Amino acid sequence: MSALSDLNREIANCRQCELSRQRTRVVPGEGAEDAAIALIGEAPGWHEDQQGRPFVGPAGQFLEELLASIGLKRSQVYICNVLKCRPPGNRDPQPAEIATCQQWLDRQLQLLHPRMIVTLGRYSMARFFPGETISRMHGKARREGGMTYFAMYHPAAALHQQKLRDTIKADMLKIPALLADAPGVPEPRPANQPQQLSLL
Ligand code: URA
Repeated sequence: MSALSDLNREIANCRQCELSRQRTRVVPGEGAEDAAIALIGEAPGWHEDQQGRPFVGPAGQFLEELLASIGLKRSQVYICNVLKCRPPGNRDPQPAEIATCQQWLDRQLQLLHPRMIVTLGRYSMARFFPGETISRMHGKARREGGMTYFAMYHPAAALHQQKLRDTIKADMLKIPALLADAPGVPEPRPANQPQQLSLL
């Protein structure tokens, strides 16, 4: 058993906020533990809550298509979320929930040591770049402390809007070149710390 699977079991037993009382299943995350890329979504939806796995509904199917466009299968990356339990009715995550859940993603990233963190949607982006807007940040990489961060729109938002769909597809295609340039084995920055980032 790996340290990450131990951690994910700990996450599965979390009762630190109200969301734990309403969930069907916790969704800690899944994928390759030695993945170069960690993709971070917002929170489990209905399908994910039922199955205990991230991105298994329509947004997940689209994410798999996007990954396939750069020659990757979901088993080759690590996929998880800012929140590990589903907010009722798929409402937006609340600041207190994000703050309570933050420790889990921090610890997952410390164990994963990806070379690139891809944020999906504004809640995931805000965790690393508070104060930024997704319309400004999407499709741009920032490198800090050896880690490459790349912000994308959320696949669910892009699913039914042709313009966003084209944008997210184009953004995904930028990842291979950025990854090829990315240094190895950096330390991820704990969330919400002041940044001194340069745009690539
Ligand atoms: N949307 C997310 O942000 N995460 C999931 O796991 C599924 C849908």
